[in-house]
Amino acid sequence: MRVVVVGGGIAGLVAALEASATHDVTLLTKADLGVSATAHAQGGVAVAGPAPDSVAAHVADTVAAGAGLVDAAAAQALCAGGPDAIVGLRRRGVVFDGVPGTAGEVLARGLEAAHSHARILHAGGDATGAEISRALVAELRRSDVTVLERTTVTDLVSADGVVVGVRLLGGTELAADAVVLATGGAGQLYPHTTNPGVATGDGVAIALRAGAAVADLEFYQFHPTALAGPGSFLVSEAVRGEGAVLLDARGRRFMLEVHPDAELAPRDVVARAIAAVAAAQGEPVRLDATALGADFLARRFPTIVAACAARGLDLARDPVPVTPAAHYWMGGVRTDVDGRTSLPGLWAVGEVACTGVHGANRLASNSLLEGAVFARRAVRSLTRPAAREAGGPAWSAPSPIVLDDAADAAPFARDELHTLMWAHAGLQRDAEGLALAATALAGLATPDAVDSASAEDRNLLTCARALVAAAQERTASVGAHHRTDSLPALDPPRHSVVAGTPRRVLV
Ligand code: SIN
Repeated sequence: MRVVVVGGGIAGLVAALEASATHDVTLLTKADLGVSATAHAQGGVAVAGPAPDSVAAHVADTVAAGAGLVDAAAAQALCAGGPDAIVGLRRRGVVFDGVPGTAGEVLARGLEAAHSHARILHAGGDATGAEISRALVAELRRSDVTVLERTTVTDLVSADGVVVGVRLLGGTELAADAVVLATGGAGQLYPHTTNPGVATGDGVAIALRAGAAVADLEFYQFHPTALAGPGSFLVSEAVRGEGAVLLDARGRRFMLEVHPDAELAPRDVVARAIAAVAAAQGEPVRLDATALGADFLARRFPTIVAACAARGLDLARDPVPVTPAAHYWMGGVRTDVDGRTSLPGLWAVGEVACTGVHGANRLASNSLLEGAVFARRAVRSLTRPAAREAGGPAWSAPSPIVLDDAADAAPFARDELHTLMWAHAGLQRDAEGLALAATALAGLATPDAVDSASAEDRNLLTCARALVAAAQERTASVGAHHRTDSLPALDPPRHSVVAGTPRRVLV
């Protein structure tokens, strides 16, 4: 079978490596191999540890974080598949940090927000994603997988409703029996993001153009603590997990009044509180890690300490200014627990996919695990018959979505998109702002994909329009989708499923 994998983060790398055991695999990445959001991930990989932790406890935490919208089967698949996925990563050369004195035999486990147990595996202290990327890229280089770097996929190629390949920038087509999208998220929709420049929503836009169902696009997670100022460098939640606290301009630990779990409350709660305090006081909130000590910080968080130092900040001596930044898209291409999309021939895994495993708010450190677990499941399903065609109670049938340009649409610069998205489709939304954003986005002309930059802009505009349309439809606040004009919630909340052209519905 000819398998084309699009994307070079953990999901794409694992999918390509696993598939290469039995299939003829080509991995396409628009940048150099190793450039991905995975390589920037700090905190780690959540996986159920020994008792008193358990798979059931990890499932329960994942479900609780997701604000009523976590797909139970997906959460079970993620958490139960975790330990094996970690074994698979270690076999491929990933070295996780061990408990000191155990020669790496016993893995160290950190705590992050909304986890009932310390279960976050990490590598190089706070360089977990970089270590995973390093090991998997090295393995890929040694494998039979054909790797095409700096190669942009613009569209899927379909025949009679079946995906049969991909189209590259310039028009060349690559035939495939199975296409696996692993293109990650779309943090570049926003001016403040922890994502690298490659996170431009390519997979969602490509899938929408092909008529695939996408879901829950209104749920974008904002990480509470990126360094304020240019670059939005991530300060891992693990720093708060180790005891760092958030202070307002007067030095008050304001999170104590916001949530019983204070700094370790769910991400959306912490992010909104930080934004509100900063707006009220006119200066950024500060993260105070000074009590952790210089030696511990240097050992446990070398990447963050160095990033602070590069900005003239001393994490061990001074509280550092932090701000929320776009971090992870819970919505994406609708798939079942095996990565199958609504289009035969098309799979999606990792952040680009929406299995429903994160509901409306992803639990910290579940994303690297998601990439590894669902990529493995997708590969196992490549040769199985397609998903059933039926409606489920929580996943409504896809409604068509209109993403056209207005008649007088004009070329745009990315800054315009950023301003609109941050102001009206960011941490907080309301009907008036969303309507304004929808009209303004319709007035931006969809660029022709003549080079990689215009291909990315085209995808970002498509994603922005789809996200805003989804946010307009959901009039109640749920998880990361916070409406200041929230209407009473539907009980229970439902997933929002839209498609370029409706095809079939997955349960
Ligand atoms: C972090 O290190 O805080 C990010 C982890 C995640 O988003 O899962």
